Parts: sequence; structure tokens; C-alpha cells
Amino acid sequence: MINALRGMKDLTFEESERFVHIVTTAIGISKKYGYSYIETPILEETKLFKRSVGESSDIVGKEMYQFMDKGDNDVCMRPEGTAGVVRSFIQAKLDRRQNEKFKFYYYGPMFRYERPQKGRLREFHQFGCESFGEASVYEDFTIIQMIGDIFKALGIGYTLQINSLGCPTCMPPYRQKLIGFLTECKEELCEDCNRRIDTNPIRVLDCKNEKCQSLLIDSPKLLQNLCNECDSDFKKLKTLLDKSNIAYEVDSNLVRGLDYYSKTAFEFVSNEIGSQSAIAGGGRYDKLVEFLDGKATPAVGFALGIERIMELVKMPKTEREGYYLGVMEEENIDALFPLASKKRVAQKVTVEYEPKKLKAHLKGADKVNARYCAVIGEDEMKNGTIWIKDLVEKEESIINQSDF
Ligand code: HAM
Repeated sequence: MINALRGMKDLTFEESERFVHIVTTAIGISKKYGYSYIETPILEETKLFKRSVGESSDIVGKEMYQFMDKGDNDVCMRPEGTAGVVRSFIQAKLDRRQNEKFKFYYYGPMFRYERPQKGRLREFHQFGCESFGEASVYEDFTIIQMIGDIFKALGIGYTLQINSLGCPTCMPPYRQKLIGFLTECKEELCEDCNRRIDTNPIRVLDCKNEKCQSLLIDSPKLLQNLCNECDSDFKKLKTLLDKSNIAYEVDSNLVRGLDYYSKTAFEFVSNEIGSQSAIAGGGRYDKLVEFLDGKATPAVGFALGIERIMELVKMPKTEREGYYLGVMEEENIDALFPLASKKRVAQKVTVEYEPKKLKAHLKGADKVNARYCAVIGEDEMKNGTIWIKDLVEKEESIINQSDF
């Protein structure tokens, strides 16, 4: 028997319904916020992710599904959606339309070769949004508000964590300060952190090692080292959230696992799904378009993890719906198709091809959760009628086929 690969899952029945429910809810809300659909390829040049997500990130360093294709191109299955959307934005020359704003939403599979565990897959699905051309912190607030709306519509509780990662003015001097601090306690930091001092010292801040975390209590804090602009934007964001009654926690160690962020960074976490608790994450990435050779364009976005949210979503009980049609004699089956077509304009219709006794048809209607079981027997065929049972009201009737 051939099974799905480790860390990859099939979704069917109730699970796939939950998946569709999450995606359609998110699409409905993001459209109300002015987003339009963008579809980008799953396979991209490896260098796109190296340059955007960052060579020193775990995603690029350890987790990429990377290979040489038959044409000897170094390609990679996307580990996240932002890089491809930015590549597409530049390729379509939208970066040259500097006084316009562009808002895109997307959903689809992402691939990370991580160690699979509960809530952590190798193929998982994200719904994401990317907003281009809006430098104002009001847009950061609006995106957070939109995610809040999506979770509210799905009936999901969460904790919102926010931080500012500064900009090219305040980040480099802070980085130097942090390197100084980390170098002094180098011996006591874990192996990963030691490596990160040189490659990406900011990532040390979210090391999960308890010893490292206890040492970091005294580390210089970025929020206390922001330039005036970043500081005032962060304060403005907090005021906007306060005024809208959106609860949040400031987490100065929230650095995110991707290198392209500046200024606002945020994560939505749930305490109901175990250790892989981030259900959405995002932030501002004002330098990325320029970094990928486009014209400098401010941008902000997020992605939510559909599988993790599936753990939290409760689907409303599905009501009985539509019609089940059957015949008792084989020769009458043709009569069902025009009736089915007519009903399908507005209703769900299941046609049973096998002639059966009434009792068996009622069972069949029950199995497909139909509201009505409609059957043509010998008498009905003779009289041009059809027998119908409403399986909710438990009422039976016989009507003319022409009135069906
Ligand atoms: P991310 O935080 O890497 O951000 O991923 C977003 C969400 O995807 C996470 O919060 C989590 O719910 C889900 N996720 C990540 N990895 C896995 C996994 N292995 N298994 C299951 N779910 C997972 C990004 O990808 C950015 N592109 C978000 C963004 C968009 N920032 C700006 N624009």
C-alpha cells in the first residue's frame, strides 16, 4: 500500500468541509477590506526565498523542499506565500505605479521540511493577505482588525502579541548593542544561539531554551531603542488597538522566523492547540520589494495556518438539505433526470440509479442527509405523479411530476 508522505495529510468529509468553511470565511472578509485574489506558482527559483525569507532563517537553512529540475534550474516548493506575491508584484511592474495601492489575498499549500508533530506539517495550507503601497500604521492596524474579524466569524478565541522590529535607522545600532551583550554571555548560550550571534542575532531573542531565556532577561530591548518614527508608529498602533477594544500583549522578544520584517510584527496565538500555538502571523516588510530589485514600496501582510485553525473551528450542525430521487422499477429511471435537472437549479439533488423498495430509498435519503425523499413507483409512473416524504416534518405527499 502506498501512503501519503510523512507530515502530509488528506482531507475529506467533515475535515475538508471545515477547511472550505475557513477559506470561504476568510475570503468573504478580506474582500470586504478591498483585497482581490492572487494566484502564484508553488514552485519558484530557490534564490527568491534565500533573498527574502533570509539565508540565516531556519526555513531557508533547514526546511526547504529544494531540488534541481530537469532543466538544471535550482527550484523550491514555496515555504510561505509572501515572497512569491512580491515577486509577482514586481514582475507585473506594479511597483512602478507608486501612487496606487494594491491588496491581494491568496490561499494554498506551503512546504517546510520540519519534524512533524501535532500542528506542524510538512505540507500545510495558509490563507494570507498582502497590502502594497500603504506606509501608514493605520494599515497595520486595519490588517490586525481584519484578522480579528476572521477569527470572530469563525468563533475562535486568541491572544494577540505585537512588537516593533524597528527600521534601517534604529535596527543596526540595536543589533550592535545586542551582539555586545550576547558576546559577553556567549559561553552560557546554547549552540544555536552561538551560531546566531554572527548570522542573525535578533533570532536569539526567541530561543526556546530556558537557560537562554533567563540570560536574555537583562538583554537590551529593541522597544527601548526605536527611532522616533518607529516609536511613534508603535505607540499609535497600541492606541488604535486600545480604542477598538482589541486586546493585545506587547512581546519584545517576538521576532518572527522570517528576515523581511521591519516595524510592526504580530502573532495570533491560541492556548487550545498545544505547543504549535501560532494561528496567524505577519507584519510590515517595507524593504522587501526594493530588496528583490523592485521600486521601494511599503507593504504589510499576514498569513494564517488553516490546519491549526481547523483544530479550533466548530462547524454548525449540517441541516438536512435538498432532494434524494429514486425509482422502484428499473424501466422508470429515465423519468428522474429531467426532474433532477429542474430541482438542481436551486437545490442539492442526489439521484439513486438502483431500483429499490421504498424503505431502502428512505435509508438512502438519510445517508446523504437529504431533506426530501422522492420516489416514483409503478402507480406514480402511470399517473404522472411522484411520492415525496419530508424527512424533517415527517409528512408524505403525492404531487404531479409537472409541479415538482
Ligand atoms: P509564518 O508565521 O511562517 O508567516 O506562517 C504563518 C502561519 O502558518 C503560522 O502562524 C502557522 O499558523 C502556519 N504554519 C507555519 N508553519 C506551519 C507548519 N509547519 N504546519 C502547520 N502550520 C504552519 C509566514 O509564512 C508569512 N509569509 C506571513 C506574512 C504574510 N507576513 C507578511 N505577509
